[in-house]
Amino acid sequence: MSGHPDIGSFFEGRCNTGMNMLEIIEKKKFGWELTREELSFFANGAAQHTIPDYQLSAMLMAIRLNGMSARETMDLTLAMRDSGDIADLSGIPGVKADKHSTGGVADTTTLVLAPLVASCGVSVAKMSGRGLGHTGGTLDKLESIPGMRVGLTEEELVRQVKEIGVAVIGQTGHLAPADKALYSLRDVTGTVDSLPLIVSSILSKKLAAGSDAIVLDVKTGSGALMHTLVESMELARTMVRVGTLAGKSVVAVVSNMDQPLGTHVGNALEVKEAIDILSGRAGGDLLEVALMLGGYMLHLTNRVLTPEDGIAMLKEAIASGAGLQKLRQMIVAQGGDPAVCDDVKRLPQAPVIRTVLCGRKGWVKSMDAAALGTAAQVMGAGRQRVEDELDHSVGFVLPIRIGDRVDENTVFCELHARSEADAERAEAAIRAAVQIVDEPCSKAPVFYAVVTKDGVTRLKEWG
Ligand code: URA
Repeated sequence: MSGHPDIGSFFEGRCNTGMNMLEIIEKKKFGWELTREELSFFANGAAQHTIPDYQLSAMLMAIRLNGMSARETMDLTLAMRDSGDIADLSGIPGVKADKHSTGGVADTTTLVLAPLVASCGVSVAKMSGRGLGHTGGTLDKLESIPGMRVGLTEEELVRQVKEIGVAVIGQTGHLAPADKALYSLRDVTGTVDSLPLIVSSILSKKLAAGSDAIVLDVKTGSGALMHTLVESMELARTMVRVGTLAGKSVVAVVSNMDQPLGTHVGNALEVKEAIDILSGRAGGDLLEVALMLGGYMLHLTNRVLTPEDGIAMLKEAIASGAGLQKLRQMIVAQGGDPAVCDDVKRLPQAPVIRTVLCGRKGWVKSMDAAALGTAAQVMGAGRQRVEDELDHSVGFVLPIRIGDRVDENTVFCELHARSEADAERAEAAIRAAVQIVDEPCSKAPVFYAVVTKDGVTRLKEWG
């Protein structure tokens, strides 16, 4: 740790006299390690609103700039977990599985995965979040199903999972309130992209949510929080280490976010894609990621011997219709209209639907996934401020993928907009985010690695 020359004498004795947030900020400002007690003081002060936002913000920036040791990251995670309640899922028999993605564009994995894994006999009590910035949120997608309720109590959650094996809802009660306070400040203080803050934010919630096995999807690329593979691998390794030390079975899959994961971007459109996949009508990278994460969920809960056996079981559940039937049951249990599973036109439909052609020959070289997410957000699919109302019907379908050969008549995208003017603006933004060139380009990988407590398995060679 780098230190200010006088810092030792400055702190000697002072921090033993009682906790003082200014002293803790000063210590981290100079790159010193914080004690477990100091980190608990910070997390509890955030949760209970006894530390003002300006001091929390200063502390977040000090952590963002100076980082944290492995021990501090662990202690902060546990302090944030313990800042509120811990869900009691003991009423649900068997080993419970959970998953979390670090966030991306067209990442509808939960809507495919949760019912599919449950249809294979493993209970999934999943607490999800809302979209913010360019990334979508599972709760917003679910709410595009007419009548769907995501605000269940812990008792309702346990009852539903006992009855049908699955629930996907918003965070219940008072789980990890320190993260609630800190995350909203990080979003407006430029401190989201900090490894210890991401680890403690995600794992404090997952540890408090009560499941036994956790599969993490760590995204890397232009639409992810971490843009480079080196940073994403470090994030994956740290989350597996911290989660394992906290007593959970944890695996992290590092997957690509250089292009939207699915082909549909926007809330109702993403629900449609999930239904298409569970019906066996669609596939692609979204299905690949759902199968990989689901295979590990079945493996970590000892439902199958290997993740490959898990993937085979999940494919069978798609072929037999068991996964789609589980989604229908979940929608009924949460007050929604299950008929959307048979007729996706019952989902909200945008007034303007327009197909746009590529208009040129070439190959798709790259995409700016964050800019594509922002294009959907600006159309009304995402919030620009926390209090913004969403339009569930809007967004776009982008069927082309990196490496595809296109010509003048290839469909570039299908816009679902509130007005012709919105469609025009979205088309310009999407065209600017997709680079088409004259030379052939290679396809983008879907996965980079799987990180377990025993080490790293590379799924693609990199430098
Ligand atoms: N998701 C979270 O819940 N927290 C983060 O810090 C990043 C992604």
